[in-house]
Amino acid sequence: MQKFYVVGNLKMNMSSREEVSQYLTVLHREAGQKTYEHVLGIICPSFVYLAQFDTLPKGMKKGAQNLFPEKIGAYTGEISPVMLKDDGVEYVIVGHSERRRYANETDEMIREKALSALKYYMTPIVCIGETGGERQAGETENILASQLRTLFSDLSKLQAEKIIIAYEPLWAIGTDAVPTTEELFRVRVFLRKFFTEIFDAQTAERIAVLYGGSVKSSLLGPVSWEAEMNGVLAGRESLFPYELVKMMGLFEEEAKRKQNEG
Ligand code: 13P
Repeated sequence: MQKFYVVGNLKMNMSSREEVSQYLTVLHREAGQKTYEHVLGIICPSFVYLAQFDTLPKGMKKGAQNLFPEKIGAYTGEISPVMLKDDGVEYVIVGHSERRRYANETDEMIREKALSALKYYMTPIVCIGETGGERQAGETENILASQLRTLFSDLSKLQAEKIIIAYEPLWAIGTDAVPTTEELFRVRVFLRKFFTEIFDAQTAERIAVLYGGSVKSSLLGPVSWEAEMNGVLAGRESLFPYELVKMMGLFEEEAKRKQNEG
């Protein structure tokens, strides 16, 4: 059975070591000694505070919010995959809509970054999604297909199945609006079909797809397992350790329930 992922994108929040240290104290207190068989939590802080996340509660790993595709060199202000790997980062968010918007990242750049993460044995969590206008125009599937075609062109099945996709419709980020379960399920079915066409059904099953955009624990079923998503990418709610731990617990319960059903 695929694991469920709960990814916390802390974005550019928390602005002192002290604040980060308080966050971690609360996180450790909330998580206690809980263990998870079916869930992995991934917390992605700002680069500056990554080192403070070396010791995380059981079942959680640290991730980064971006990387530069080159290994080393004259790239002022950038962070290389080798640096991240050396720091203990195993997951890296790539192509978040905020980076597409504020740093003009293109599908080609996002592909380079995802390939670079794979090359250095990190798992890229690649964000895709349509704007509100594109959704209104019925363009969602075309937009997703074009973002993914660039990403997956010429990738082997083995490379492809190591990528995690995060479906984050732009109109749902930071807004408290979320797609209906039916809408999400349609996207899930579309992605499965898309991956089956490029690769095969087995590979399609192995490519995890998360949902992101105004995620909170009270909405977890409708935006994740009811739509056959493999987990969530949370922004604002990940700033509350209680919520992160709660979401992990709910996924664990759901996985056990499914397992018992046989
Ligand atoms: P919110 O959960 O704050 O809507 O942000 C979603 C997001 O962009 C996660 O990457």
